[in-house]
Amino acid sequence: MTTNASGARRAVKAVIPAAGLATRFLPATKAVPKELLPVVDRPVLQYIVEEAAAAGITDVLLVTGRGKTSMVDHFDRRPDVEARLEEKGDLERLAEVRRTSELANIYTCRQGEPLGLGHAVGVAASHIGGEPFAVLLGDEFCDVDEPLLPSMLDLQAQTGGIVLAFVEVDPSETSRYGIASIETTDTEDVVKVTGLVEKPSPAEAPSNLAVLGRYVLPATIFDAIADTKPGSGGEIQLTDAMAALLADGTPVHGIVYRGHRYDTGMPLGYLQAVVQLAVKRPDLGEEFRRWLGEFVGGGKG
Ligand code: G1P
Repeated sequence: MTTNASGARRAVKAVIPAAGLATRFLPATKAVPKELLPVVDRPVLQYIVEEAAAAGITDVLLVTGRGKTSMVDHFDRRPDVEARLEEKGDLERLAEVRRTSELANIYTCRQGEPLGLGHAVGVAASHIGGEPFAVLLGDEFCDVDEPLLPSMLDLQAQTGGIVLAFVEVDPSETSRYGIASIETTDTEDVVKVTGLVEKPSPAEAPSNLAVLGRYVLPATIFDAIADTKPGSGGEIQLTDAMAALLADGTPVHGIVYRGHRYDTGMPLGYLQAVVQLAVKRPDLGEEFRRWLGEFVGGGKG
C-alpha cells in the first residue's frame, strides 16, 4: 500500500486472471498462451503489466492454468540472452530485455478449473490478504498516453469501495459485457453505480455503459465471491459478487474512460492493435505507415 496526497491508502497489488483457453485464437493458442501473442514485438501481457507498473502497482499475481507457465518466464531474467546482447553491443535490446524483469514483482497461482472470472479472482485471496487490489483482464489495455488506472486507484483510496471503469458501447453489444445502471456525480466522468448485471440482452440492459477489464476492489470481495452461485454462462461471475457487495452498502463508482483502449481478445481487435501500435513506433512507424497507405490504396501486395 502507498498513500496518496490526501493520506488514504492506495492499492499496490494487482491480479491478472489468465487461465483461459483462448478458443478464439486456435490453433495459434494450442501451445502458446494468448497473453503471449505479440503486438509488434511485445506480448499483450507485457503491455498490461506495464500499465499496472506505470500506475504504481509493484506486485502482480498471474492467475494461470495448465500449459501457461511460459507467461511467468517472460518476466524472468535471461542471463544467457543478456550476455549475448552485451557481447554484440546491442544495448537497446539489452535494456528492453532487462526491463521486462524489472517492471514488478511477479507471482503466480493456479486456477485449477475454469469456473469463471469471479472464481479466478477468488483464488488470489490468500496472496492479496486484507488490502484493496486491482484486477486487470488479460486481453485489453489502455493507451500509454491516456492512463486510466491511476485515477481508479486514487478514487478507491478515497471511497474504500469498488471502482470500475466503463466504456459506452453500441446498445446491440450489451450481451458481451457487465452493464451498469448509474447516477451522475459532481465530477465529470465519475458515476455512482446503482446496479450491475452480467451480459444482459439489449432489452434488459439498464444502460449502454459496459464494464471494461479494470477493477479496483476491496478485500471484502473474496467473501462475496465465496457466496456467489454460478450465473451467466454457468460461471461464477465477478459482476454478481460486486452486485452483492453493492446491495450490502459498499460504495461502487465508475470512471467513464474516454481514451483509447486496445482490445486484443478477438482476432479483429488484435489486428487493429498491432497496426495502431506499429504506426506509433518511433523505429518503424514511418516506414510501416507509408507501406500501409500504399497497400490499402491497392498499390502494393
Ligand atoms: C468479463 C466480465 C464482464 C466485462 C468484460 C470486459 O467478461 O465478466 O463483466 O464487461 O470482461 O472485457 P468476459 O469478456 O470475460 O466474457
